[in-house]
Amino acid sequence: MPADLTGKRIVVTGAATGIGRSTTLRVSANGAKVAAFDVNDADGAATISDANEAGGDARYWHVDVRDEAAVAGAVAAAETWLGGIDVLIHVAGVLQGAAVDLDEFPEDMWDTVIDINLRGSFTVSKYVSGVMKKQGSGVIILTASGAGVLGGSSSFAYGSSKGGVHGLALVMEARLSEHGIRVNDVLPGEVATPLKITQVKIMHEAGGSAGNLEEKIGALVSPDEISKVYAFLASDDASMVKGSVRTR
Ligand SMILES: NC(=O)c1ccc[n+]([C@@H]2O[C@H](COP(=O)([O-])OP(=O)(O)OC[C@H]3O[C@@H](n4cnc5c(N)ncnc54)[C@H](O)[C@@H]3O)[C@@H](O)[C@H]2O)c1
Repeated sequence: MPADLTGKRIVVTGAATGIGRSTTLRVSANGAKVAAFDVNDADGAATISDANEAGGDARYWHVDVRDEAAVAGAVAAAETWLGGIDVLIHVAGVLQGAAVDLDEFPEDMWDTVIDINLRGSFTVSKYVSGVMKKQGSGVIILTASGAGVLGGSSSFAYGSSKGGVHGLALVMEARLSEHGIRVNDVLPGEVATPLKITQVKIMHEAGGSAGNLEEKIGALVSPDEISKVYAFLASDDASMVKGSVRTR
């Protein structure tokens, strides 16, 4: 039985490719009206046209999650277009610095990853939670990772940023429930997306683990599978689910 999202007003970030694209298509097919944010406008437009051709009601905004003014403007525009925001599914993120040694890790790469993954999660949550606080209800789903939460990471900056996102979700869960806002963070496991496939190739070339590259890529889970978890968490059936959700 697909998660029933009939009438839900949902914002999805990182909607252009990978997990965000699959999640946009799924929640749209399950009845939600979707405001999609990304910086990759060509793939973002393709996600929206695929969602709408399948009978959905979705719209795209160019939003760099590092840009506070852009986030504030897009959240306000999405609130108006949707008529409120029931669910934020924040998926946007980057992985840079895989296999780079700590003593050689560039400061600007560190800043980029932390800004997009951690500060972006904070900024998008900040503006969406303001809308939800007025409503007295909402669901915020952040995207952490096993990296920096359950163990190590191929990238010092990536693992650190995701540890931060996990911490942010725990703090938000504790502080926002009094406003009727449920907060979850998803640790999506190893999913076949542009981000992960690039990382697997880099680690393979760096000699990270034995084995065949095609088999390593073939072992990844499809983003469509993971989108079912996000759709469930967005639904009322997940009202008793608190905090972190692991899919591996
Ligand atoms: N694929 C995995 O195995 C895996 C594992 C754990 C966590 N994650 C997390 O899942 C999320 C989605 O990643 P994915 O694997 O689908 O990769 P992806 O590269 O396909 O998707 C990331 C999306 O974020 C967008 N994005 C990047 N920078 C942005 C910015 N500054 N502002 C707005 N949008 C931006 C990209 O354009 C892209 O559409 C990321 O947060 C990633 O860290 C992925």
